[in-house]
Amino acid sequence: MKKRETISSLQRAKGERKLVMITAYDALFASLFQESCDMILVGDSLNMSFLGEPDTLSATLEQMIYHTRAVCNGAPESFVVCDMPFGSTNTPDEALTHAVEVFRRTRADAVKIEGGAERADLVRHLTRNAIPVMGHVGLKPQSVRAEGGYKVQGRDEKSIERVLQDAAAIEDAGAFALVIEGVTPTLATLVTRECDIPVIGIGAGRETDGQVLVWSDMLGFFESFKPKFVKRYLNGAEQVKAAVATYAEEVRNGLFPAEEHCYR
Ligand code: KIV
Repeated sequence: MKKRETISSLQRAKGERKLVMITAYDALFASLFQESCDMILVGDSLNMSFLGEPDTLSATLEQMIYHTRAVCNGAPESFVVCDMPFGSTNTPDEALTHAVEVFRRTRADAVKIEGGAERADLVRHLTRNAIPVMGHVGLKPQSVRAEGGYKVQGRDEKSIERVLQDAAAIEDAGAFALVIEGVTPTLATLVTRECDIPVIGIGAGRETDGQVLVWSDMLGFFESFKPKFVKRYLNGAEQVKAAVATYAEEVRNGLFPAEEHCYR
């Protein structure tokens, strides 16, 4: 059985071993992931892959709490991070109230907050009140409408400078780890070197302290779009469709249920 991670063990991992994080939204899949992964993120990406919305912006705190409870129930041996949804952390006090709500109603170990230097005071307010925070810099999906799309960062000096400043400010505010998303490997390497806390990449190359992927992307269940950075480790959608088609055919032609599925 894998040993449960803590903030200290995750921080000690920097430079020693790569950290593995995966998203999960329910107890069943979380229970399958806990053995191989160091952390489970209940990402607001669930709004897209579970609810079918076009972006993450309409995810609510209630939704995040519901799914985080499920994940904590399914993977009691995992370090679980709950994503704070768009609009739930507009001021330091509001962020604290909502993060406390997450902690009271789930067994999450930490919350994740998207944003850069402009959110440092808010992160500091949470960490000073015993809420561990994972930052999220680089491409920030919650800013998709403000930015006019999902824009890879680090292709020009200005964005390199900004992301470096964001990472430094969030670390300085007390975050225990950072997600860095959608940046060039060069920028991710710089951030990983500059930060003393673990930096977990998604679409950020190989040099970060760890990786995170959205489970439905990496298992091939989310078919409508495959970002460049995703590797599919399973053809989930194809396999599920084939299995359900077989079930339907067997029901229709009377092969299921067979004798062994009947009570006597
Ligand atoms: O919501 C999410 O799944 C995330 C990951 C992409 C890091 O924030």
